[in-house]
Amino acid sequence: MEKLHHLIKAEQLTPSIVAELLTDAENFNQSFKAGVRNFENLKGVTVCSLFYEESTRTRFSFERAALLLGANVISTENAAKFSSAAKGESLEHTIKVISGAAQNHLGYADIIVLRHPENDAAERAARVSWVPIINAGSGSNEHPTQALLDAYTFQKLLGRLDHFTISFIGDLKFSRVVSSEAVLLSQCPGVKMFFVAPQGLEIRPELKSYLSQKGGEFEEASDIKAVVQDSDICYVVRVQKNRIKDSELLLTYQRNKDNFAVTDEVYKMSEQKGTFFCHPMPVDEEEQEIRQEIENLPRVKMLEQAGYGVPVRMAILAKVWQNQKI
Ligand code: CP
Repeated sequence: MEKLHHLIKAEQLTPSIVAELLTDAENFNQSFKAGVRNFENLKGVTVCSLFYEESTRTRFSFERAALLLGANVISTENAAKFSSAAKGESLEHTIKVISGAAQNHLGYADIIVLRHPENDAAERAARVSWVPIINAGSGSNEHPTQALLDAYTFQKLLGRLDHFTISFIGDLKFSRVVSSEAVLLSQCPGVKMFFVAPQGLEIRPELKSYLSQKGGEFEEASDIKAVVQDSDICYVVRVQKNRIKDSELLLTYQRNKDNFAVTDEVYKMSEQKGTFFCHPMPVDEEEQEIRQEIENLPRVKMLEQAGYGVPVRMAILAKVWQNQKI
């Protein structure tokens, strides 16, 4: 089986690697629930969380995961401003220095967790790094660790990771989560995907071509109400205002946003099917793509999903470190 050294893109998450990581995550989760707090998988290891973009869940869950595993953590939550990137340093130089690329010199970290606004950042970092790079979100194309924690969530909710129907709702053009998730699920047998997006924010043609090549079954629709009763999971994402340049697209979405929101009506429509509603968070408080009046109902699972970030990221950190030593 191929070994995970760096985790850069969802395509690396083959069914056997996913199965292995989800088993490890479940073991960490159960041990944690039983009260274990002193895992030693990363004893003496230093993890650097290097975030050039804002984050709540990914950064803190990675740092919690690393600390639980016995690692030390060095961190910047705003590398764009507070690292030497602000003085014009290239990502490559930063990664070389942190990973210790100078011969016979100690690096500053043994594993680097990187979030960056550019699509190819993690790939470029991995090319020059002496230590494992974990992609914690790159531009609008990849967020593989979120895809894995979502897979863990689906397995928990449905009892399986095959033969189910999932609808992705919202800004599918700029969502790196949906890209990575669709790639991961295209490797799972019998998973049907619906893509429901506002005008101009539809799933990217290259992702559709990829899914077609892989034999993935998918359809596009324009209203959550058209798909919810056929969906085991409705996976809602926010509209990425920080990436949308054309203000007309945003206005069109806002005029039609009920078509892409989990409302009381949508929740009730899905009662018989028992559809679960997931969201990677953050939810946009202004747009409320999951309405506040229903967010605490039992089939809305976004907080559980966020919590699973810790055991899943423990599994990823432990695996890349174990593979590093082989
Ligand atoms: N889901 C997710 O990536 O959240 P953060 O941006 O808060 O890390």
